Amino acid sequence: MLRTIARTHAVAATKVVRASTFSATPAASFVRFQSVWAKVPQGPPDAILGITEAFKKDAFEQKINLGVGAYRDDGGKPFVLPSVREAEKEVVNKALDKEYAPITGVPAFTKAAAELAYGADSPAVLEDRIAITQTISGTGALRIGAEFLNKFYSSKKILLPQPSWANHKAVFTAAGLEPATYRYYDPKNIALDFEGLLADLEAAPNGTAVLLHACAHNPTGVDPTPEQWRKIEEVVKAKGHFPFFDMAYQGFATGDVNRDAYPIRYFVEQGHEVALCQSFAKNMGLYGERVGAFSLVCQDTAEKNRVDSQLKIIIRPFYSNPPVHGARIAATILNNPELKKQWLGEVKQMADRMIKMRALLKENLERLGSQQNWDHVTSQIGMFCYTGLSPEQVERLAKEFSVYGTKDGRISIAGITSQNVGRLAQAIYEVTK
Ligand SMILES: Cc1ncc(COP(=O)(O)O)c(C=O)c1O
Repeated sequence: MLRTIARTHAVAATKVVRASTFSATPAASFVRFQSVWAKVPQGPPDAILGITEAFKKDAFEQKINLGVGAYRDDGGKPFVLPSVREAEKEVVNKALDKEYAPITGVPAFTKAAAELAYGADSPAVLEDRIAITQTISGTGALRIGAEFLNKFYSSKKILLPQPSWANHKAVFTAAGLEPATYRYYDPKNIALDFEGLLADLEAAPNGTAVLLHACAHNPTGVDPTPEQWRKIEEVVKAKGHFPFFDMAYQGFATGDVNRDAYPIRYFVEQGHEVALCQSFAKNMGLYGERVGAFSLVCQDTAEKNRVDSQLKIIIRPFYSNPPVHGARIAATILNNPELKKQWLGEVKQMADRMIKMRALLKENLERLGSQQNWDHVTSQIGMFCYTGLSPEQVERLAKEFSVYGTKDGRISIAGITSQNVGRLAQAIYEVTK
């Protein structure tokens, strides 16, 4: 094998030298092998990162970046939660060792994460039938969950809402599943296409896996009401579908982690063995620490133990075991009643700031005399708002007003501040007149 590679390189090198003897410019004094990767094509840039690049290049001082999916404080700055600072100090002061965590992560973290999502009084928690593993944030949770489905679920198909977080399709495809979509958003009414959603779940073959955003749907900011969730549950049950929840924003929708977890808890109460992906990127601001969890509700402890053993087999060849620092921070917060109370207050503070910015944006648009209906700005929930702006209008926002959002009209509410909301409203007003 090595010899073959060496020969290929030698041939390539000869070609380079020969070519240079015929060229007008003198041959370089060194011989370069033709790269092994010469045929690797340029991949398309990441849509969101592209916006950040364009934003960075813009020299206008009052430019506004509404593309990024990370919380910002009212000064437009990244926000490290005081409870996180406090917990991190505690972790550091303990001078813990840096040994490997178990394959499924820091046990004090996963136990607390399960209780946060399912509720400490959940029958699944009390009966010890939740298989849970720490993951590389929400993305890692999705990938581990997708790998598990690919290995053990009866069908490869998974239905995603249309639209959904852009990475969902990529993650499920990479794991060997076959993502398709169900109707979710009605652009005409800028609202949930509830009829379409139910019809598509009804029409899917029995036993299809269905991805459900538990709260603060990304990118639309449109969530089903509790009543609608109960209807969705009925259809999922009747069809024997498999509910696969993604909860990347627990607490960000309403400011209340329990209210936001309603659909998961309701499905479990109704007897579903749900899958759940959790992220602590947003609600603890632990973005770069990559703290998440994947769990599967099982029928009993024996089944949980079997599932747990298979999760370990999936994880081991990926990254052996997860990093400990962020999980220790999260565990410190979740397991200390005082710190947890403080954290819950900070989650609410972040959610409330976003709710306030929504109201201010709408108020400003109306004050400017916009003839459009902007009710959806305040009725949508969480970090994102699907404004209903066309790609052309989004482009004008960037070119003429230095306001950057995604082409689909999504803006991150977290990027709005009391300082820039007036200018933002003016810009949106101008492009929608
Ligand atoms: C719906 C949804 N799921 C999962 C994630 C994963 O986030 P992370 O891997 O940063 O936890 C995101 C991030 O934006 C998201 O919006």
